[in-house]
Amino acid sequence: MPTKDNVRFAPAGGKLGVLIPGLGAVSTTFIAGVEAVKRGLGQPVGSLTQLATVRLGKRTEGRAPLIKDFVPLASLDDLEFCAWDIFEDNAYQSARNASVLDPALIEKVREPLEKIHPIEAVFDREYVRRINGPNVKEGRNKMDKAEMLMEDIRQFQARTQVKRMVMIWCGSTEVFHTPSEVHQSLKRFERGLQQNDPEIAPSQIYAYAALKLGIPYANGAPNLTTDTPALLELAREKNVPICGKDFKTGQTFIKTLIAPGLKARMLGLSGWFSTNILGNRDGEVLDDPGSFKSKEETKLSVLDQILQPQLYPQLYGDVFHSVRINYYPPRGDAKEGWDNIDLFGWLGYPMQIKIDFLCRDSILAAPLVLDLVLFLDLAHRAGMHGIQEWLSFFFKAPMVAPGLYPEHDIFIQLMKLKNTLRWMRGEDLITHLGLEYYD
Ligand SMILES: NC(=O)c1ccc[n+]([C@@H]2O[C@H](COP(=O)([O-])OP(=O)(O)OC[C@H]3O[C@@H](n4cnc5c(N)ncnc54)[C@H](O)[C@@H]3O)[C@@H](O)[C@H]2O)c1
Repeated sequence: MPTKDNVRFAPAGGKLGVLIPGLGAVSTTFIAGVEAVKRGLGQPVGSLTQLATVRLGKRTEGRAPLIKDFVPLASLDDLEFCAWDIFEDNAYQSARNASVLDPALIEKVREPLEKIHPIEAVFDREYVRRINGPNVKEGRNKMDKAEMLMEDIRQFQARTQVKRMVMIWCGSTEVFHTPSEVHQSLKRFERGLQQNDPEIAPSQIYAYAALKLGIPYANGAPNLTTDTPALLELAREKNVPICGKDFKTGQTFIKTLIAPGLKARMLGLSGWFSTNILGNRDGEVLDDPGSFKSKEETKLSVLDQILQPQLYPQLYGDVFHSVRINYYPPRGDAKEGWDNIDLFGWLGYPMQIKIDFLCRDSILAAPLVLDLVLFLDLAHRAGMHGIQEWLSFFFKAPMVAPGLYPEHDIFIQLMKLKNTLRWMRGEDLITHLGLEYYD
């Protein structure tokens, strides 16, 4: 039967290797969750690839398949995990330490978790200052370390016989850096690796190793990583899809729900104060001003882009926006995020909204990891390469082509994602015009 697909999908059969730098709270919650779902011990709540549907054609047609039945995604049964960490704990021990999931649930998936031993990490205390561990590679220079990572990946592939792979960064947030000389071209970057250039971060060495082997890369943290001309050039050269940055989970998720609503109603804003307490290892790392600065940048950028103060100076030209993260160990992974929103309405009359989100960071992040892995693999099999803007939905600071502003409005992001899936399969895009219903 002729297909109307706009892309040619390579088959989803065979195993998919999931390569994860960072075996901490997010990644173990993701892996334990996948194992639990496979055994019928829980539902993949929060995952678009597992639960969401996509409407096709007209509203009168009643066609709304599950996304996973509409596009050929890898199956959860076919995922194989590989991780690196500076600590030696296996995934079972790390999940127990993270204390996100019930010990009773972790026991039920103990066997597959215990088999995941973190490989020695590429680590540099200049980039993550608050933690240190023994499971770290030694090498003559950064190129040596990149080659060791490529060897790790080849060995994993030989051992597990995975057909395809995706890498997703779930490691700690690195200190804030902007692109420098060494990031301006692939040639300079490779010279920098040889010469141990201090501007090359560990996350960039992982990304280089993955891209060099033709493996898609997603960045779950706010680190610079692939947001540089050098690594974009490598992704293009190898025809590999990439996306980032920084999973959109707790407070920023809420912000991208509320802010588009206020703007849709042309309500003004004078201030938005956001503060958080959290006590997990991520919170400890973010207690360092350098790492916090990376996070602050991605968290602050959201409002400006959504509100477009240049178009609406009388409503959004003078917004005081402040974001704080406080390390508070008693809370562990159960973060509390407060928002105080000072807004104004008709004739400038002031109003307030208070939000207190008692969330669970890793419970919100785990389904995003799953969706990103499956969608990046899909994009790769569909021959899509470079920045995958249609995956902006999952990120606080979506990567976009140079010269474009990122789209932060979560509803526009979702429409873009679903329209991309429709486009892949040659279905009509949904514009919401709908005049034909009234002819
Ligand atoms: N949980 C969320 O809601 C959320 C949202 C957005 C972004 N993130 C980001 O995701 C990342 C993971 O979060 P988490 O809560 O799992 O943190 P975590 O501290 O529990 O886990 C991170 C792990 O990375 C390891 N690590 C650090 N540098 C490494 C390196 N160079 N190579 C290999 N391993 C390394 C650490 O030892 C640690 O075990 C963080 O950067 C966090 O900011 C999390």
